Amino acid sequence: MEIQTSDGRYAETDVQALAVAVFKDEKADEGFLKELDAATGGLVSSILEAEELKGKEGEMAYVHLPNAGGGLKARRLLLVGAGEKDDYKLSQVSQFAGAAVRHLRARSVKSVGLVARLEGADAGRVAAAAVEGALIGLFEPDKYRTVDKEERTVDRLVVIGGEGADAEALRRGAERGRVVGESVNFTRDLANEPGAYMTPTIMAERAQQIANEFGLEIDVLDQARMEEEGMGAFLSVARGSDQPPKMMILKYMPEGKTSINDGEDYLALVGKGITFDTGGISLKPGENMELMKYDMTGGATVLGVMRAIAQLKPPVPVLGVVPATENMPSGKATKPGDVVRAMSGKTIEVINTDAEGRLILADGVSYAKKLGATRVIDMATLTGAVSIALGDVNTGIMGTDQELINEVIEAGREVGEKFWQLPLDKEYTKQIKSDIADIKNVGGRKAGTITAAAFIKEFADGLSWAHLDIAGTAWGDEAKPFRSKGPTGVAVRTLLNYVERVSRAAEAGDGGGGT
Ligand code: BES
Ligand code: ZN
Ligand code: ZN
Repeated sequence: MEIQTSDGRYAETDVQALAVAVFKDEKADEGFLKELDAATGGLVSSILEAEELKGKEGEMAYVHLPNAGGGLKARRLLLVGAGEKDDYKLSQVSQFAGAAVRHLRARSVKSVGLVARLEGADAGRVAAAAVEGALIGLFEPDKYRTVDKEERTVDRLVVIGGEGADAEALRRGAERGRVVGESVNFTRDLANEPGAYMTPTIMAERAQQIANEFGLEIDVLDQARMEEEGMGAFLSVARGSDQPPKMMILKYMPEGKTSINDGEDYLALVGKGITFDTGGISLKPGENMELMKYDMTGGATVLGVMRAIAQLKPPVPVLGVVPATENMPSGKATKPGDVVRAMSGKTIEVINTDAEGRLILADGVSYAKKLGATRVIDMATLTGAVSIALGDVNTGIMGTDQELINEVIEAGREVGEKFWQLPLDKEYTKQIKSDIADIKNVGGRKAGTITAAAFIKEFADGLSWAHLDIAGTAWGDEAKPFRSKGPTGVAVRTLLNYVERVSRAAEAGDGGGGT
């Protein structure tokens, strides 16, 4: 899709269809809509008077030949309900754009002009939100369909900033939006792949590709290297699989920087890369097991974020760590009751081989620490319990650094991704005490999401650390007006915004963003 911006008038924009946001209970006889009403020969007031559209989020009114008044170049007009004007922020712009392009693509429209109407906001940020929302809206999970596949495409998108908008800011914003939107879709694409097509080896090849294409340092540890590092927790999960495990390490350094100084703040993102989770010997029931192909979404999120960071080039270094393996039952698999030794030296009694994510993250976090990370955000489809607690609306967040947690929550709020903090009092750690080893990998039925985090906390000693449990939010069972069903790409935008916020703070010299 060709992406353009315009600092001209929407009426003169040469596109097949214009999409315009309309707020709740907005009147056609004043302000912006008055002008549009005149340009369309009274179409807008006619639609609003007929109450065909009241401006509620998700409502659409679509008309052909809206240029009866001779004032519009576009031959089709889509009015998109955008909800309350006071609640209309950048994240709503992104949803407006996604909903508009999805609706218009389904009507075979090839070129779309977006009039997002977020007044008073930075033109570049509005353009970024619009482009990112449109790209995310156009993603479909139907890759392997040969019939009834969505073959239609929107070939050209024009973000219309309006007369007097800063053309350079629009252009730069649209470019950022393209990078972010494509990277979110990169993550969704990986998450969507069947287990057979997204083995640890293939995932590592994808990581290698982004490193080559966008310029990141990369190291992929194979089993022998992991054995040398003593990653017994990770390797205990990989044991049952015929697919060789991989640990991907991606490094982004700002220009001119070659290494991390002692004691310097260094952010690492660590993502769970279970390319298929059968549960292992503690085998999962068959129902819905096919969904366990998305158990590598945390890892795919790290790769998506690193892919974008390599292009956006923030002034802070970022490390990405993705331990990847299948979790399979076999004659070689780890058995419940086995005791394994993590890289940190801690011994773990494996009570349930289906609680494997925390085992691979334990060694992932330890390795990030070994590479000098001081601040770690890990992300994982870790527990079914998180969707019992928070559904598919909020991602669970826990950690040891309240300032970091607050920053991530706020970064998410700005891009329209919700995080809800669960407590992580030390009392929960009692639930993972083992009779035979230092800790065990499950903490009983109570507080399943929290005890999983309490387990990872054991390996985050001395770090500023936050943990995101995306099991409930990484997959959408239903399509939304602005997004298909399937992989959501949750947290990619939040983490990129977090890095941007940290960069701004670093440039302002206050070193903010958590300690
Ligand atoms: N990958 C699952 C968690 C999961 C469940 C992700 C549903 C997405 C959707 C994880 O490895 C797992 O199986 N967790 C167990 C932990 C239990 C054995 C303590 C769970 O949630 O049941
Ligand atoms: Zn599991
Ligand atoms: Zn899992």
